[in-house]
Amino acid sequence: MAEKARVGVLISGRGSNMAALIEAARAPDCPFAVSLVLSNVPDAPGLALAREAGIATAAMSHKGMKRAEFDAWIEAQLVVAGIEWVALAGYMRLLSPGFIAGRAGRIVNIHPSLLPAHKGLDTHQRAIDASDTKAGCSVHIVTAELDDGPVLGQAEVPILPGDTADSLAERVLAEEHRLYPKVLADFVTR
Ligand code: GRF
Repeated sequence: MAEKARVGVLISGRGSNMAALIEAARAPDCPFAVSLVLSNVPDAPGLALAREAGIATAAMSHKGMKRAEFDAWIEAQLVVAGIEWVALAGYMRLLSPGFIAGRAGRIVNIHPSLLPAHKGLDTHQRAIDASDTKAGCSVHIVTAELDDGPVLGQAEVPILPGDTADSLAERVLAEEHRLYPKVLADFVTR
């Protein structure tokens, strides 16, 4: 098999999607490797998971830094590690237009809604409040507009009577963990 595509994962929190990508990448026929995990939150729980899995990590707080300045640090880490593809996995910061332009078409994100519905935060509560009958998740290419780039893949779940934002989030998250590795594998080989 050709050399695996080197993916850098950006996280801010618990990192369950990152862990799903790391797990999928263990398969010999997986076309990507998670080669680096970066975070803007130095104590993000996902960083410990990545280290336990033997993945290189780096973290720096963005606090007090200009967005472009912080993203230049990210870019430098990615370049040193020879990363070509970037996967956002619960990365809770907007990326600067310059960073996105420099890696146009090679950054993907997972968002917990059926885009274009419910961009931004609180997706599950908003889906319930809108009386939607289904929810889900989307993997999309990152562009300068929030949660707006071309959708690469989606998975749907029903919204059930009595669902709370938490119960719905749990159902969607299980689909996220299935969808993201599959879409990323297709994306790096297309
Ligand atoms: C996920 O629901 C993802 O779709 C959203 O943020 C959450 C991150 O969860 N962008 P985790 O850190 O991957 O567990």
